[in-house]
Amino acid sequence: MALILDGREVSKRIREEIRKEVSLYVSKGLRAPTLAVVLVGDDPASVVYVNNKRKASQSVGIRSLLYHLPKDTPQEKLLSLIDELNRNEEVDGILVQLPLPEHIDQKKVILRISPEKDVDGFHPENMGRLVAQMEDGFIPCTPLGIDLLLKHYRIDPKGKDVTIVGAGFIVGRPLSLLMLWRNATVSVCHIHTKDIKKFTLGADILISATGVPKLIKADMVKEGAVVIDVGISRLGDKIVGDVDFEEVKKKAGAITPVPGGVGPMTVSALLLNTLKAYKKRFSHLISTTKP
Ligand code: GUN
Repeated sequence: MALILDGREVSKRIREEIRKEVSLYVSKGLRAPTLAVVLVGDDPASVVYVNNKRKASQSVGIRSLLYHLPKDTPQEKLLSLIDELNRNEEVDGILVQLPLPEHIDQKKVILRISPEKDVDGFHPENMGRLVAQMEDGFIPCTPLGIDLLLKHYRIDPKGKDVTIVGAGFIVGRPLSLLMLWRNATVSVCHIHTKDIKKFTLGADILISATGVPKLIKADMVKEGAVVIDVGISRLGDKIVGDVDFEEVKKKAGAITPVPGGVGPMTVSALLLNTLKAYKKRFSHLISTTKP
């Protein structure tokens, strides 16, 4: 039976560390780190994600400002809000929840966010830093959360065959770069891959990020593999992942549950990125006050 990789427990520890660090800075007279969250429309999943992110921020002492705009907000209006948040000295991080309504050009919006405040790590400047292995950029939250989860359980991707199913720009693509950074041998499968099983069966670490419920069956997984499930889908009244958990856990060496695996780690990574943005902003003051 597989070891369960408990994202809730690991997150609890990470958040406690963040909370302590934030309270130290605030006790020295600095303002609290501040994250601006922009939500356009009322997509139910996005509303839940945004609420989770805001609650988690508040629980560690990060101030969260919500900008909830109507679904039909013109693109120009969203872009000027981003300009304003870029200029605002009280704001350290900006997160625009995706997906955006169809009349808005997502790429234009991402390009408009100042790279120093891009705590999602989606701006090409931060993606470029990920390619170039520069530590000072922001790594997208889900890849960073997975990296931290693996680190916690001392699972080192170095020299391992890592297969990622899903090549989206929020998870699969940046995660493939991060796993390369960690010296893994990386395969990325996507909608045009002829034979996904060929790649999943060879994987020492298998990561699925497709949003297709129960796509990954036991016969696609190598005995003893580490299986990371990024999917979150609603199946009736249940939340399920990309992996057929009950069957795959009998074969895997380690596996993340859904919920309670990657999800909380993504939020913890966002908090870490926000703290990083804040510390950079106040680096002239913080270097002397850090314990
Ligand atoms: N939608 C799904 N995942 C994400 C994420 O990590 N960041 C943002 N901004 N939107 C998302």
